[in-house]
Amino acid sequence: IFSLVERAAADPILGLTDAFKADKRTNKVNLGVGIYKDESGQTPILKSVKMAEAKLLSEEISKSYLGMEGVLAYNTAVQGLLFGEAHRVIQDKRVFTAQAPGGTGSLRVAAEFVMRHTPVRTIWVSDPTWANHQNIFSSAGLEVKQYRYYQAQTHGLDFEAMIADLSSANIGDLVLLHGCCHNPTGIDLNIEQWQQLADLCLEKSLVPLFDFAYQGFGEGVEEDAQGLRVVANTVPELLVANSFSKNFGLYNERIGAITVVGNDETQASNSFSQIKSTIRGLYSNPPAHGGLIVSTILADSGLKALWLSELQEMRERIGQMRTLFVQSLKAHGVTQDFSFISQQNGMFSFSGLTKAQVEQLRDEFGVYIVGSGRISVAGMTKTNMPVICKAIAAVLAV
Ligand code: LMR
Repeated sequence: IFSLVERAAADPILGLTDAFKADKRTNKVNLGVGIYKDESGQTPILKSVKMAEAKLLSEEISKSYLGMEGVLAYNTAVQGLLFGEAHRVIQDKRVFTAQAPGGTGSLRVAAEFVMRHTPVRTIWVSDPTWANHQNIFSSAGLEVKQYRYYQAQTHGLDFEAMIADLSSANIGDLVLLHGCCHNPTGIDLNIEQWQQLADLCLEKSLVPLFDFAYQGFGEGVEEDAQGLRVVANTVPELLVANSFSKNFGLYNERIGAITVVGNDETQASNSFSQIKSTIRGLYSNPPAHGGLIVSTILADSGLKALWLSELQEMRERIGQMRTLFVQSLKAHGVTQDFSFISQQNGMFSFSGLTKAQVEQLRDEFGVYIVGSGRISVAGMTKTNMPVICKAIAAVLAV
């Protein structure tokens, strides 16, 4: 029967990592996948994480199953980070959270829950969006529609087009929103725009599904959550899929969460019971380690302060690389204006390079970026910067 199976296309992001690993050139650079590198080109384990792990190793007494919703203290801590502890959805007990395997796992649980327990069959995603969104949602059976988001000429947000497209959505449709550090463009809404969007969702009964994978990589943990909090102040129902891969550097622990906010406590609690049942059917219950690390850090004021300073260091280093990138492109003779790269948030820069230029960068220079032109600034260092800029200058000169 397997003779009938056709080969899958390479994944647009993880497939690049496979190709990069197989590349024999020594001066190759991987700016495809969003993984933070420090100045020495390593992806470090945070000190706060190591300290929490040491504590867990000495104190953990059992490897018994978790419940379907995972580590309870973790789930409460997630809500505090997302909404702020005093937010009304928490006060009103309208919010429930289940630990889930990373951002992808959380999004998939959300999509499966919606498909199994609501009449909603459509989700709107931004154009462009993270390369895996289409795969996740269509695998769950949702129809994926696009709303305009990015304006190539200005390298900015096309907010009017976004609102116009979402105005044609049907009651109950899901709207996928990037909480901050939009992937791949790095362009976010301002607070007034979040409010306008929230008003539209309320008026048209659209259900926001936040993909929140970069909290703390934009302006800061609190600042980056403002959009979500504005929306949660306005709309009665929403879902959040968040990930701690990047901001805790816990990539391979697959640690995220799915959060549901309902109209009232009963509706939210009923929905959560079905989310748990969905989880039972997918993977039963989550692995413990990532949830325990995060909850240990967030419950200890010293560890939390250390984590926040480590996160700040990552955020600031990426900011420095943005500035250096723009300067180095100029120094390498690039005449086009790339100053917009300094305005973008998060790990990525949406360069505007064409597919052909992206291929040339890879084939001729061993510089790997995503086909959309997305470059992981988080993978740049002072050492690899000249290699990268020389290659980009060469492909732009053609
Ligand atoms: C990315 O966008 O590079 C990351 O979110 C990693 C991934 O799984 O694609």
